[in-house]
Amino acid sequence: MQNSEFRIRSGAILHSEFCILHSAGLAVIWESFPTYDALSARAAQLFLTAIREQPNIALGLPTGRTPLGMYERVVAECSRQYHCFRDVVTFNLDEYAGISCEHPGSYCTFMKRVLFDHVDVDPRNTHIPDGAAGDLDAECARYEGDITAAAGLGLTFLGLGSNGHIAFNEPGTPWTSRTRVVELTASTRAANAALFPGQEVPTHAITMGIGTILDSKRIVLLASGERKREAIERLRSGVSTEGFPASALWTHEECLVLSS
Ligand code: GLP
Repeated sequence: MQNSEFRIRSGAILHSEFCILHSAGLAVIWESFPTYDALSARAAQLFLTAIREQPNIALGLPTGRTPLGMYERVVAECSRQYHCFRDVVTFNLDEYAGISCEHPGSYCTFMKRVLFDHVDVDPRNTHIPDGAAGDLDAECARYEGDITAAAGLGLTFLGLGSNGHIAFNEPGTPWTSRTRVVELTASTRAANAALFPGQEVPTHAITMGIGTILDSKRIVLLASGERKREAIERLRSGVSTEGFPASALWTHEECLVLSS
């Protein structure tokens, strides 16, 4: 573990349980929190420290309900010191295919609502795959190229699907996968139905691959709540299998899991 921030025990301030888990010669740092609020405070602390220490960092950013508390705190902090995001570059993990940025259910709309509209990020530095691109495969290749041109992701935050998916990489995804178009499972579409009231959830999406995510220098996974309990336990068990995408994180050198 190279980065000092990952070694800082948050227990004293945030009442977390901190441990380094080992399995088959691999290690993951794990912090468990009693509440979702405490988890969000820790995630926001990691986020803000990263952009303070490296103002031009490229961040991998998640959507979903889990990171909302983190974004809320980051926005609150950055409205006090407005220059937080001046040179920060962001890459979202995924986007639905077949809908445009302006669609109310798009992750593009989501990101503007929860973060981009409230901080001084340069819109040219925010990257989200274009789900409405005419040639989706070319769009995926372009996205990978943009990440490479930004010198790779410095820190990526992830949520956890209840079937263990990360971004939109469903069970069975090869760990070498790159950004590509995927078909969503029925369970993932059902879990995300709230973004599409009265409408069909898109059947496909563009997602960073597991290989793309693993190339990030540091990774922080956030997982909270009863719906995630089984997936959290499975991740914690340390069994690495392509049948459970999040377990790929065990192969990463600087991965921190925050659970509550
Ligand atoms: C979606 C997103 C994932 C996210 C997952 C969990 O499938 N594509 O990136 O991690 O939902 O979402 P939630 O945090 O709402 O449970």
